[in-house]
Amino acid sequence: MAATEVNTYPSANVHGEVTGQTGNSGEAAHTETEEMRSLSLSGHVGFDSLPDQLVSKSVSQGFSFNILCVGETGIGKSTLMNTLFNTTFENEEASHFHNGVHLRPRTYSLQESNVDLQLTIVDTVGFGDQVNKEESYKPIVDYIDAQFENFLEEELKIKRSLYNYHDSRIHICLYFIAPSGHSLKSLDLVTMKKLDSKVNIIPIIAKADTVSKSELQKFKIKIMSELVSNGVQIYQFPTDDEAVAEINSSMNAHLPFAVIGSSEEVKIGNKMVRARQYPWGVVQVENESHCDFVKLREMLIRVNMLDLREQTHARHYELYRRCKLEEMGFKDTDADSEPFSLQETYVAKRREFIGELQMKEEQMRQMFVNKVKETEAELKEKERELHERFEMLKRTHQEEKRSLEEMRRDFEEEMNTFNRRKVAAETLQSLQGSTGLKKDKEKKT
Ligand code: GTP
Ligand code: MG
Repeated sequence: MAATEVNTYPSANVHGEVTGQTGNSGEAAHTETEEMRSLSLSGHVGFDSLPDQLVSKSVSQGFSFNILCVGETGIGKSTLMNTLFNTTFENEEASHFHNGVHLRPRTYSLQESNVDLQLTIVDTVGFGDQVNKEESYKPIVDYIDAQFENFLEEELKIKRSLYNYHDSRIHICLYFIAPSGHSLKSLDLVTMKKLDSKVNIIPIIAKADTVSKSELQKFKIKIMSELVSNGVQIYQFPTDDEAVAEINSSMNAHLPFAVIGSSEEVKIGNKMVRARQYPWGVVQVENESHCDFVKLREMLIRVNMLDLREQTHARHYELYRRCKLEEMGFKDTDADSEPFSLQETYVAKRREFIGELQMKEEQMRQMFVNKVKETEAELKEKERELHERFEMLKRTHQEEKRSLEEMRRDFEEEMNTFNRRKVAAETLQSLQGSTGLKKDKEKKT
């Protein structure tokens, strides 16, 4: 058995090569580089069980895997997921009349042997159904970013619990290409281009049974050349691990996989297999001469699931985290390439924030003063208008009063004249009455 020791003491009785020593004896203790020596063990110690401990801990913890299915309505997303995991997930047919694209995540708990898998399938509902598809990629990008943001927030917490955190970051995006046999649509290119720095993309040709064998080969070549010429980076199966290098590099040449999904089982020989039955024959999902379904399952689940998870964390999340922290003002080094302290960043950011806050406060105060002045001026104007109106009404009232007074006087005069005439008329009438009586008496006598 061999051991490797990390020696941090520059003592004289150490047998081994010492590298990177400096001439300054005062600094020697700090600048002495690490020294490794190989030793052999004289008996079994037991740390060779570390890999087993790791496996058993991971198994007890369980795994999560998150798949994003991007593809137009009815292209076969749900059927393929059911076929891939050999089960029946919830399946709601999407309508073609959504105003926009929205993402629908569903999480399932699956178990195989003693391994628990928390599988999240995210569906793009309404993708490709709008007349204007310019913004179709946006909800997908926002969803992926939101999952990164949640993880970053958890990471930055003082009291974080990453151990039992439900990681919802998307590990793989299966991009469903319509089996036109022609070329990619601009929606496909734009969407994949917007996603390629955020998620591992595996392009797949859906419903591959609808394209003939020779057309399919040409279609695959066309798709790959269009992806390359548009600078779209798709996920490459890793070839740095010897154990899988060969299979992965041969599978990279088969991309995009042409797949078939089916929820039907058909009896072939004396075995029930997943297949699609047509009047002219049967297409077997797991028959490699019929389609690339087995290749996809092999690459996605059986060989590269771990790599997809690692790439998501080490490449895509790291990029998001770096950009976000830089945006927040954090750096690793300052202008003189000296390490940048978190404390200094915090103080600088705080000063900047307080400055901004004071500026905003001043702006708001100024705005308030202006508003008060404006309101005061408006009120004064209203007061002046009211005053003017009051004066006018007062004048009108006085004029009306005067004219009424005049009318009253005229009326009284008229009444007096009338009364005088009435009295005169009555006097005259009574006088005439008494003269008439006298004349009658004289006549009788
Ligand atoms: P939405 O969720 O409504 O957007 O649809 P989807 O993309 O999930 O499609 P779904 O799996 O519901 O399949 C739609 C139709 O396509 C069904 O009738 C399936 O039987 C059929 N279909 C699915 N996969 C294939 C395939 O590989 N080949 C053919 N020919 N038909 C398929
Ligand atoms: Mg579906």
